[in-house]
Amino acid sequence: MIYKITYGEPDISSEAVVRYVFQETSPNDFSELFKDIEYKVDGEYITLKRRIENEGYFFGFGDKVGPLDRKGRRYVFWNTDNFTHHPSADPLYKSFPFFVYISKDFDKVYGCFTDYPGWMEIDIDSNNDKTISFKIRGKGFNQYIITGKNVREILKQYLRLTGQNIAFPIWAFGYQQSRWSYMTQDEVLDIANKFRKEDIPCDVIYLDIDYMQDYKVFTWNKNNFPSYKKMLEKLHQDGFKVISILDPGVKVERFYKIFESGNGRYFLKDIYGGDFEGAVWPGRVRFPDFRDKKVRIWWARNAKKYLKDGIDGFWNDMNEIAIFATEDDIKEAKKKLKNAKLEDGIKLAGTLGSIGEIGRQGHGDDIVHLDGTPHWKVKNTYGLNMTKATSEMIQKDLKKRPFLISRSAYSGIQRYGGVWTGDNHSWWEHIRQEIIRINSLSLAGVFYSGFDVGGFGGDVNAELLIRFMQLGVFSPMFRNHSAIGTKRQEPWQFGEEVKNILRDVIKFRYRLIPYIYTQYMLGIKKNIPLVRPLFYDFSKKEALKIEDEFMFGDSILVAPVDRPNVEKRLVWLPKTAINLFDGNIYRNGWRIVNTPIEHIPAFQLINTAIPTMEPQSYVDMLKVDIISWNVFSDGKSRIMSYFYEDDGISLGYKKREYNLKQILIKDNNIIIKTKQADYNVRNRTWNFSITYIDGSTKNVSIEVGNDGEYTIPIR
Ligand code: GLC
Repeated sequence: MIYKITYGEPDISSEAVVRYVFQETSPNDFSELFKDIEYKVDGEYITLKRRIENEGYFFGFGDKVGPLDRKGRRYVFWNTDNFTHHPSADPLYKSFPFFVYISKDFDKVYGCFTDYPGWMEIDIDSNNDKTISFKIRGKGFNQYIITGKNVREILKQYLRLTGQNIAFPIWAFGYQQSRWSYMTQDEVLDIANKFRKEDIPCDVIYLDIDYMQDYKVFTWNKNNFPSYKKMLEKLHQDGFKVISILDPGVKVERFYKIFESGNGRYFLKDIYGGDFEGAVWPGRVRFPDFRDKKVRIWWARNAKKYLKDGIDGFWNDMNEIAIFATEDDIKEAKKKLKNAKLEDGIKLAGTLGSIGEIGRQGHGDDIVHLDGTPHWKVKNTYGLNMTKATSEMIQKDLKKRPFLISRSAYSGIQRYGGVWTGDNHSWWEHIRQEIIRINSLSLAGVFYSGFDVGGFGGDVNAELLIRFMQLGVFSPMFRNHSAIGTKRQEPWQFGEEVKNILRDVIKFRYRLIPYIYTQYMLGIKKNIPLVRPLFYDFSKKEALKIEDEFMFGDSILVAPVDRPNVEKRLVWLPKTAINLFDGNIYRNGWRIVNTPIEHIPAFQLINTAIPTMEPQSYVDMLKVDIISWNVFSDGKSRIMSYFYEDDGISLGYKKREYNLKQILIKDNNIIIKTKQADYNVRNRTWNFSITYIDGSTKNVSIEVGNDGEYTIPIR
């Protein structure tokens, strides 16, 4: 059940909640779970203090850094460009004020979504006095308490409330290569060629800010990309998709079409009725007001031209809003910034020491939206609305699945696109941190997420890159990205041996595409995340405490290596499992497993069946002849699995235009049933390789077509 409690008088309507699926109630109804003990209005702020009766765990809040269990800290929700993700960095780019509480013995579970898009702080028992407090700057907020048997049920309901995930195209599950920046069209083409020449699979290449003329959004740098259309054509021929970055700041420049068409109509205002201006990459810029539908349409119309040129999707950045400085900042910091001007762009950030520092304090009170709403009341939805602009256009006009990732977000973003975790570093610590962050993003309802594999800031080394890439295999978005001025980290940058290991790592991902896509698409439909913490599937006390293992779909447990020189690691297995890499079988419980550098540390759980295929240089299901099933069986239990397929790009899946097969293994038979055949799939050979718990194996094969039912005896 979803219950809504209103505190104070909220004057901002929520952008997160899409459906009336809740019941209005009062806090007294939850005395079993918690008790409100104080409600205070203090000037512009409201604080609600709540006693929590049980000791337990608090999971959620999206990609905030720190431990998976959020207890014992205070978290601020105020979207900020904060690029040094040390373990207590806060606030960060996104706001997902939703957590799930689980008591020690799993007997009490509830979800709590505090819907307020302005400044908010949630303190989860930082004083060790068994209280949680919610503090907002504003007139009131709505809170949704979600009850259910377990996390699975709670997350499903949270997604009924805030909307289902939009499906990403199938190629979004291939490997993706990025860099700030590939500076010229030749460089982009060279990178692409190198992938094909080296036989390293890759589906997507990114264009960072340097593809634009002077960082002006919706332009092309004609010097460095003189024949960008041809470049895009060539890339498409070679099986690549191209994603370009979009930054919201529009350069203030006479005769620049985008600026001229938005000027006086579409940009955020300052409190005196003038135009709000700041400095970002292009220098002096103004910011579109994406809350306004007209503005979203205008933005999307311009974005459409990029799509017409051949761009396949967008990477929405700097939308917290990240601002290096405003005129006022410059005035205030006069001593440090002699003769500085907004036009100085990035130089300002350098002089001030850190991008985003200023944004952290201000840029809320000084901005007004076109409808008069002060920015500080809705700041956390800026990135969501920016993403919504292109998402709606791509879905409605082009009838396609959008490929959109955003750095800044608020609850509900999953309806429009996915996210990446922003500017991490090439640090060992960030492997662990990214595991926690993508798992917590799943709990915030965002099923397509990723992080800069290899690390964005700082210099990577070979070992760290390999371990980062091995984790990337099990992240919904597998994208290697790094910052200007740092060591290059494409798979071939560290010599032959490392290149060969990384080729295998990437090919391993491609083998898993049928499994990944099936799990992802059925997950979208049923509100089940691809990546999830162990306690999502297993109600065992160990599962509540482990943050360096997770489930990737319902059959694979991943136990990444997040330290250098680790040849063995301790893994807790909820069930007997087989190492996907070396075939070793381990009983459930705590086990020591081998993790030499070339080992991808992942396990298939007992009584599961995983569909795989031969790796391709880019994802193309039409060229797949053979599906190989890895079955791991105790010889007694019934095994059930699925195989899902559709065109991979359209919105047809919403109208059941897909092919779904159910695979049942029992009594020495494999039974394949067609559950849905509204997408025509080609005939293929399905090879089943069954490994039994004692290590013995059996193999059977069958031709499987579009429709029908098949029974194959296992001999
Ligand atoms: C921001 C983004 C990063 C990008 C850079 C240049 O730091 O987070 O991914 O490469 O800007 O556009």
